Order: sequence, then structure tokens, then C-alpha cells
Amino acid sequence: MFSKKEVANETPTIDMERIPQHIAIIMDGNGRWAQKRHLPRVAGHKQGMQTVKTVTIAASKLGVKVLTLYAFSTENWKRPSSEVNYLMQLPIRFFSTFVPDLIKNNVRVMVMGDTSQLPEPTQKAVSDAIKDTADCDGMILNFALNYGGRDEITRAVKSIAAEVSAGEIQPDEITDQLIGSHLMTAPLGKLADPDLLIRTSGEERISNFLLWQLAYSELVFVPEHWPDFDADSLKKAIIEFQGRHRRFGGLKNK
Ligand code: FPP
Repeated sequence: MFSKKEVANETPTIDMERIPQHIAIIMDGNGRWAQKRHLPRVAGHKQGMQTVKTVTIAASKLGVKVLTLYAFSTENWKRPSSEVNYLMQLPIRFFSTFVPDLIKNNVRVMVMGDTSQLPEPTQKAVSDAIKDTADCDGMILNFALNYGGRDEITRAVKSIAAEVSAGEIQPDEITDQLIGSHLMTAPLGKLADPDLLIRTSGEERISNFLLWQLAYSELVFVPEHWPDFDADSLKKAIIEFQGRHRRFGGLKNK
């Protein structure tokens, strides 16, 4: 048996000097969380929205620079319309209660994805939140809304092809950097690529999220359903990240 002290010594603690700058999260398991409680699936999304609040504040306090959350994918339109409608209401509810807390914590809202397809009131809630937090220069809370990695790459390829056919660039000027500058994460500059991707609920897939940007991210899959994820779960995932050796294709940990 370990004494309390030995256990404490062996438990890894978070290294505040090595907090991942950009964390991306696939918030999975809302439906299963609700089903386990004999509740409708949307009750899981409602609770999931509370988790977004908790995790946003926790990440900001830890010094994370960008938190990207996969809130609605280009494939989520296939869900029953009642569930899609509920998901479209969530940003309205979220921002109507949470913008003052975001401002208090110096968190700036950004969005990536084709927001033009969202219902008008959802678009307005999102653009108001972006405007209201525009002066915050702490963490960026980046919502992926009607976002898909393949859609993003397709749009980038089309726009680069248009520039080539207009004679604005030559094909051999197409580089990693040029492609990055045509992706929806371009406004994040050097922080575009997540250091850490977390997916909740035990599934080990990328599901069309940030396909280009995840090239060298550390992937951490956790068993909790998203509504059960909290500040401690975030810290645990960061500790797991800090135990990894990132080599970016080279030989040494840089
Ligand atoms: C995946 O769980 C979750 C979603 C598709 C929606 C995620 C949205 C939220 C967590 C709320 C977002 C809040 C704001 C403020 C926009 P699932 O429904 O696929 O769960 P399942 O795999 O158990 O069915």
C-alpha cells in the first residue's frame, strides 16, 4: 500500500510553463449522456453548453491562447430537424447569458465555418458576440459552426485555383504556407495548428475536424461524455499532452 505522500509524489502535476497554446475539442457524447439518464438527446446538448462555459473559463485561466470547439459539423444537418433546430438555438442561449463573463475573462469570440447557412437569429447572435468581445486580447474562443475539414480544403483549393487561372500566382508558388493562408484558421496566424486535440466519449476518430491543421497535434481521447467533462478533465488531458514527446517528424523533442 502506498502512503498518501507517496501517491501524491507520483501523481504528475500540470506544468504551467508548458500549457498547449491551441487546444481543439471534439465535444462528443451529449446524446449518450442524456440516454443514460432517460432524457431526450437535447438535454445532453443543453448540459453540454454548460460544460462549454466551464471549460472556456478553465482554459483561459490556465493560459491557453486558442480554444477551438467543434460545435456543429457540415454533416450534422443529417440529424432530425428538431435536434438541428435545438443546436441552432444554443449559440443564441449561450451568448445571451455568457458574453459578460467572456469579457470579464478577456476572452475573444471567433467563428469558423460557413455561417451564411445558419438561421438568421443564430448568425446575429454569433456576429454580436464577435463584435462585443473584439477588444478582448486574452484567449480566443473559436467555435467551429457548420464547419467541415474537407469543405474547408475544397474552398481553399478552389480559391487558389482561381488565383492561378487569373495569373496572380504560379503553380510552383503553392506552398504549405499559401495553403494555410486560404484555410479558415488563417486569422489565427501562428496559432492555427492545435497543439492538442481532445475528443470526449471514448470514440477515437477525427470526424472531418481540422484535417490539415491536426498534422502534428497530440491526440488525447478521454472516456467521459462531454457534459461530464470539467476543469479537472481538461487538466488531466493537458498533463497527458505534457508527457508526450513531440518530434514533428524529426528525431529530437523540440
Ligand atoms: C456531439 O454529441 C455533440 C454535438 C454534435 C453538438 C455539440 C454542441 C454542444 C456541446 C453545445 C455547443 C454550445 C454552443 C455554445 C454552440 P452527440 O450528440 O453526437 O452525442 P452521441 O454521440 O452520444 O450521440
